[in-house]
Amino acid sequence: MRGRSSFSVLMVLVAFIVTLFLSETVSSAPTKKPTPKPKPARGLITLKQLTKAFAGNCPPKTVGDAITCKDALPYINAAIKKYKLKTKGQQAAYIANMAYEGGYLKYNHNLVNPTQGTRSIMPAVSLRIFVDANKPVQKLFPGYPNINNDSIVGVLIKRKLDFEPGAWWTVAGPGCAKVAAGLRASEDSFVAWEKGCINGGLETIPDRARIYKAVYAAIAK
Ligand SMILES: *[C@@H]1O[C@H](CO)[C@@H](O)[C@H](O)[C@H]1NC(C)=O
Repeated sequence: MRGRSSFSVLMVLVAFIVTLFLSETVSSAPTKKPTPKPKPARGLITLKQLTKAFAGNCPPKTVGDAITCKDALPYINAAIKKYKLKTKGQQAAYIANMAYEGGYLKYNHNLVNPTQGTRSIMPAVSLRIFVDANKPVQKLFPGYPNINNDSIVGVLIKRKLDFEPGAWWTVAGPGCAKVAAGLRASEDSFVAWEKGCINGGLETIPDRARIYKAVYAAIAK
């Protein structure tokens, strides 16, 4: 009697588990559309890719604040490598933000606010966050941490570190890591990164997204 009842309990249990398993596979199979994985970057950016990404906007001469795509490329690639921008989406976001903010490498200083600049035209408080997070950079500022945020942009540009803060911020700035990990070809992934990491103003998103798409398409091949 005892053996029989435990046998039927076992059968009920087995049936239950099988049902559970079947319903799980049936319900999850057709609804789950996998998100495409971020595309890993195989190499660095080539001049051909950058020129195509800038769609006719590469400055014609390296003079004053402006720098040609050819002259900028080694700095861009060094920053990508140093701050580990590992996917095409992360590289495209960095380059597109720089293109949008700095007029496609035309500006290194904000024309209205002189405390704001570098290739991604970052505000002084953001440049300070970059300096605080990067020990080797702190050595360039005697008296650190007692420094004036407004003085940071001048030092970074003079030391030719103007391509670095934007690259660091793209993947490591406040709120950036998670949205940067999701950067892909899709506009949604870019908008999530823009809102969570850059926050450059809702009205700027269409222009920023248009540049991102062009840059992504140029460098993703
Ligand atoms: C300098 O920047 C830091 C980091 O953004 C900020 O916390 C601090 O208030 C700024 N200092 C001044 C005087 O604006």
